[in-house]
Amino acid sequence: MAEEAFGEAGTGRLRMAVQKKGRLADETFDLLKRCGLSLSQSKNRLYARVQEMPIDILLVRDDDIPALVAGGASDLGIVGGNVFEEERAGGRLGSRVPLVKPLGFSKCRLCIALPKEDTYSQPADLGGMRIATSYPALTEDWLEREGVKGATTVVMNGAHEIAPRLGVADAVCDIVSTGGTLDANGLKVAETIYRSEALLIGGPLEGEAKKVADALQLRIEGVQRSRDAKYVMLNAPRSAVEAISKVLPAADKPTILELAGTAEKVAVHTVCREAVVWEHLEELKRLGASAILVLDIDKMLA
Ligand code: PRP
Ligand code: ZN
Repeated sequence: MAEEAFGEAGTGRLRMAVQKKGRLADETFDLLKRCGLSLSQSKNRLYARVQEMPIDILLVRDDDIPALVAGGASDLGIVGGNVFEEERAGGRLGSRVPLVKPLGFSKCRLCIALPKEDTYSQPADLGGMRIATSYPALTEDWLEREGVKGATTVVMNGAHEIAPRLGVADAVCDIVSTGGTLDANGLKVAETIYRSEALLIGGPLEGEAKKVADALQLRIEGVQRSRDAKYVMLNAPRSAVEAISKVLPAADKPTILELAGTAEKVAVHTVCREAVVWEHLEELKRLGASAILVLDIDKMLA
């Protein structure tokens, strides 16, 4: 594969920036795979080419993605909301703020945390504190909105959690996922200031680029729709079909199939969220449902 071909104008290939490595990267590559897209990587691992669609993937650090897209160097990007909003709040996207579509994965919270022994009841308690963070713009915006007096940010690019013990800060503002890192460092959440998930950013696009981006979005939506949905099959008395359809609400009416050798029982096939099946399992059994099968759906295209 020719290295120089990436992002060349006029090749008609859409450019999309994604994180090179990390948790977001893993989940992004998983999404692309579930969209039926396979990547061939360049030798220098700076970009990858999608085999099935005219898309080139630029592999970069996540904090560079918003500016690459806003500046037009990349048509689209997949980036954490935390990073995108920090770049926007920091005024680094200029006037061309791209469109945003939430993708529903890589969910986490941006939290202000304090040593466990500190008492905390309200934002004013943070007054005068030094807060270690790599999200100074989001943190300062929040402090201002909450009217916290005299608090300042100390920018650190990692290991925020040890800042209070080192004495370089009184609090931290960092990403919390499971909470394990805070706990291990003797810290507790005081406030959640932003809820983050992965975003597809970019556009508005025109012409061929728009066509490719729309086709990609259609595939992503198919994957999103199928994420919580399950294909449910069960056998039930014919007389209970209506009651069972009410218990398992779906976009469409269920499919009812004859069972060999009996007129009283039928097979019911439907699509619904997995949680619904768990919540109503007892009720389904009470209505006479048997042989309940819950199957994964790979994609749901419309
Ligand atoms: C993030 C964040 C915390 C940790 C939180 O760091 O900065 O340190 O994850 O996760 P937890 O609540 O599940 O413990 P990451 O590992 O992404 O690396 P970084 O700090 O170098 O960005
Ligand atoms: Zn960290």
